[in-house]
Amino acid sequence: MHRPVVASSGFVLFATGVDLFHVTTISQVVAVGIGAVSLLALGLALFMYLASLRLAARAKELERRVVARTTELTAVNEKLLKKINERQAAKDAIPDPEEKFHQLADHIQEIFWMMDAATKHVIYVNPAFEQIAGRTVASLLDAPLSYRENIHPDDRVRFLINLDEAAKTGVFDEEFRIIRPDGSIRWLRSRGFPIRDQQKNLYRLAGIAQDITDRKAAEQALRESQAELARASRIVTMGELAASISHEIRQPLTAIVATGSATLRWLTQQPPNVDEAREAVTGMVRDANHASAVIEKIRELLKGSSPQLRRLNVNEVVREVLAVAANDLVREGIVVRTVLAPDVPSVLGDRVLLQQVMLNLITNGIDAMSMVTGRLRELLIHSTGHPDGALIQVQDSGKGIDSEQMQRIFEPFFTTKAEGIGLGLSISRSIIEALGGRLWAAPASPHGAIFQFTLPVGEAS
Ligand SMILES: Nc1ncnc2c1ncn2[C@@H]1O[C@H](COP(=O)(O)OP(=O)(O)OP(=O)(O)O)[C@@H](O)[C@H]1O
Ligand SMILES: [Mg+2]
Repeated sequence: MHRPVVASSGFVLFATGVDLFHVTTISQVVAVGIGAVSLLALGLALFMYLASLRLAARAKELERRVVARTTELTAVNEKLLKKINERQAAKDAIPDPEEKFHQLADHIQEIFWMMDAATKHVIYVNPAFEQIAGRTVASLLDAPLSYRENIHPDDRVRFLINLDEAAKTGVFDEEFRIIRPDGSIRWLRSRGFPIRDQQKNLYRLAGIAQDITDRKAAEQALRESQAELARASRIVTMGELAASISHEIRQPLTAIVATGSATLRWLTQQPPNVDEAREAVTGMVRDANHASAVIEKIRELLKGSSPQLRRLNVNEVVREVLAVAANDLVREGIVVRTVLAPDVPSVLGDRVLLQQVMLNLITNGIDAMSMVTGRLRELLIHSTGHPDGALIQVQDSGKGIDSEQMQRIFEPFFTTKAEGIGLGLSISRSIIEALGGRLWAAPASPHGAIFQFTLPVGEAS
C-alpha cells in the first residue's frame, strides 16, 4: 500500500523542476521517508505478526480449556448417568402399590377379606383363607355367600345379626367358630372396617380374621383349672378334715348313745314303755341318717382329691394363681410385684393343693388391703432357694396382724372377718406340713404382713 505513495511523491518532485542539489537533498529526504515508511511497514508487519502469535496462543489456551471443560463435563455426565441408572434400578426394585398389597396379602397369616356391604358377597380373600378354613379361595368366590355355611350353628345367628349391623356402621368385631370340611372346629376373631365412596357412602367392608383356636384352648384350660381350684378350696384337708368330721359326727353319735340308753331304760320298765321306746328309736334312726349324710357330704368333697405328688416349679404355680386372682387384684387396685428366682429348686408337691395354699394367702392379702387408703396397695411375691429347698413369700401392705392375733391365726375356725370361716390358714399350714415344709407369718415393714413357706426339694424321678 505504501508504494503508490512513494511514486506519487517522486512525480511531484520532478514536476516542480527543483535543482539537482535540491534533487539530491530531496532524494535523501525521500530516501529517509521511504526508510521511515519501510520501518513503519516493518513495525506494522511485526505488530501484526506478534498479534497473530498472541491470537494463536489464545486459541491454544482456549482449546485447552475447552478440552478440560469437556473432560469435566463428561465426568459429571457420567456421574449423573450413574445416578439416574441407580435411581431407576431402585425404582424398579420397589413394587407399585397394588403389587405391594398382593405381596403383603399373600404372606400374612390372617385372612384378609373384603365384601360388598349391600349384598354381603365376599369379593376378595387372601390365600391364608385356604389354610384356616380348609377350602379353596375359588370355591368361596364362586359361591360368595357360602362362608355362612362354615360358621358353627351356635354362632351363626349372632354373626349374621352383627354383620347386618356392620353393613350400616362399618364396625365389625366378632369371635366365632367355623366348622372346616374335615369336621374340625376353629375359633376366629374377625375385625372389619368400612370403605366409603366419595359421597361417604359405605359400599365395602374389609377386615382381618385371625385364627384364635390356641388362645381359646388356653382360656378353656384356665377356666377348668379355676373350677378345679374352686373345688379344691372347698375341700377340708388333713387335720381340719379330721376336726370337722369329728365335730359333725360327734353330735349325732352322742345323741344316739343318749337315746339308746333311754330306750333301754323304757324297755326295762315294768310294764315296758313301748311308746316312748318307739319314739326314741325313731330319733336314733334320724340321727344315724344325719351322721351318714355328713359322711357322704365329706366323701363328695374329697372326691378326686387324693394328692398327686409331682416335681413342680413353684414359679409356675405362682403365675397360674396370679392369673386366677388377676380380676380381684385389678378390681381392688392392687399392684403385684413378683421376684421369682429363675433357678428356684423344683419341689415335690401337688399342684392343685399348692395353688390352694397360694390362693388362700393371696386372698388374705387382698382382704387385709381392702380397707387401706392413702398408701399403695401392693402384693409382693418372692421365690428363692433356701437351705430347706424353696422359699415362697407373700407380702402385703395391708392392716397387719397384732401380736395377740398372731398367736391364733393358724387355729381352725379363727377369723376376724364377717364372712370368714377361719379355715384358710389352718388348711394351708396342714398342706405345707404334709408336704414336708413349714408355713409361718410375720409382720411386714412398714405395713402389712408377710406369710412364707418352705418346701423340700423334689427328688428327680
Ligand atoms: N395377710 C393378712 N393380714 C392381716 N390379717 C390376716 C392376714 N391373713 C390372715 N389374717 C388374719 O387371720 C385370720 C384367719 O385367716 P384364715 O385365712 O385362716 O381365715 P379367714 O380368711 O378369716 O377365712 P377363710 O376360711 O375364708 O380363709 C383372718 O381372719 C385374719 O384376721
Ligand atoms: Mg382366708
